[in-house]
Amino acid sequence: MARPASKTTAKAAAQKRGTRRRYTKADHTDFEHTGPDTLAGRYMRLFWQPVFISEDLQAGQALPIRIMNEDFTLYRGEGGKPHVVDARCPHRGSVLNTGWVVGETIRCLYHGWRFDATGQCVEMPAEDANFSHKVKIGGYPTEEYLGLIFVYFGEGVAPSLPRYAEFEGEGVLDVNVYTRLCNYFQNVENNVDPAHTPFTHSQSSYVDQGLVGLPEVNGHESEWGIAQLSKRPNGGLRISHHGQPTILNLKFQPTDDESGWKELITWRVPVDDNYHKAFLVYFVHITGAKAERYRQRMVERKTALAALPLAAELAQAVIRGELSVRDKAVLGRPDYLEIQDHVAQQGQGVFADRRRERLGRTDMLVILLRKIWAREMKALAEGKPLKQWHRPPEISPTIGIPGAKLVPETEEA
Ligand code: FES
Ligand SMILES: [Fe+2]
Repeated sequence: MARPASKTTAKAAAQKRGTRRRYTKADHTDFEHTGPDTLAGRYMRLFWQPVFISEDLQAGQALPIRIMNEDFTLYRGEGGKPHVVDARCPHRGSVLNTGWVVGETIRCLYHGWRFDATGQCVEMPAEDANFSHKVKIGGYPTEEYLGLIFVYFGEGVAPSLPRYAEFEGEGVLDVNVYTRLCNYFQNVENNVDPAHTPFTHSQSSYVDQGLVGLPEVNGHESEWGIAQLSKRPNGGLRISHHGQPTILNLKFQPTDDESGWKELITWRVPVDDNYHKAFLVYFVHITGAKAERYRQRMVERKTALAALPLAAELAQAVIRGELSVRDKAVLGRPDYLEIQDHVAQQGQGVFADRRRERLGRTDMLVILLRKIWAREMKALAEGKPLKQWHRPPEISPTIGIPGAKLVPETEEA
């Protein structure tokens, strides 16, 4: 949607959006809708969100992106920095991504108006020289970290972008994104649902690595979100972490013979209310020739996936009964694990009907998650202080398999 031209700054626009509506009690538990006027949308915008994979945006390239029901222009300046401004030119509304990147600015294709990364118009080739400084669109703080482009769309001054030390050492960063055709909150709930693994992933590397058997689910609110403790019949205690608002952080099982267990952090990001993306960063504890071979496998995986049907569409075919999740068309793909989750979550419908669900003991962390979200959203609606989430070093996931080693024992080729 086009935003008004005028001098409105991004900050003022966000504040204006946030005060447009009066919220009712029902809004405190409406986690699903994330448009700019919604309570969940305002809450989500208080956190940095990943929007794109760094290496997929070249210097001088501009692209349209849609996040939380709003359209924006993402571009990389000629100096290499990524920037995000509003989607449309305020002159007569053409989209900016079709224009040209000039230095760190972007020029509209239609009549050449040019905007800097803050959204300030800096040139109107055919207009009076004193007009351009009166026109400003939204420009949003943008940073690159762990191979992703993060943006702050929220009210007020952007907080500092959270950092994750164990992803910064020597090793391989394996960065991925997938699209899931259902509301993002279903995937957030899945962050705290270890009881799905023995069923949804009954044919998978989870089993190969010993993550089998029904877990005894426990957990509690942490300084970051929710610590999830699942004790499996093998005696191991696997700890994974949900970080507010949508993050999942766990130890991910080896997917080949030489790269070992990986660190995984993933963010669920609404595109609109009907579907979302998940950005995933794996940190693999390998160097040297092993790292080179891993990178080669990353390239091969990407090439293989590009030639296959979209995973989320394949999941819809499973849901319609046209094929089985146990067919080779699913299990033979490099992204079969994600498809298993697509099938389970898209199978809940675009919006899971929470009025009809029958929750059991193993849903205790889903219930806790909703309570935390509702508490924070109510505080936001009432203008009260929100919990300041952070991730101290002791919040660290465990593998939870007796004898499993995080770092492969030999480093030689
Ligand atoms: S519509 Fe962009 S310069 Fe005219
Ligand atoms: Fe899963």
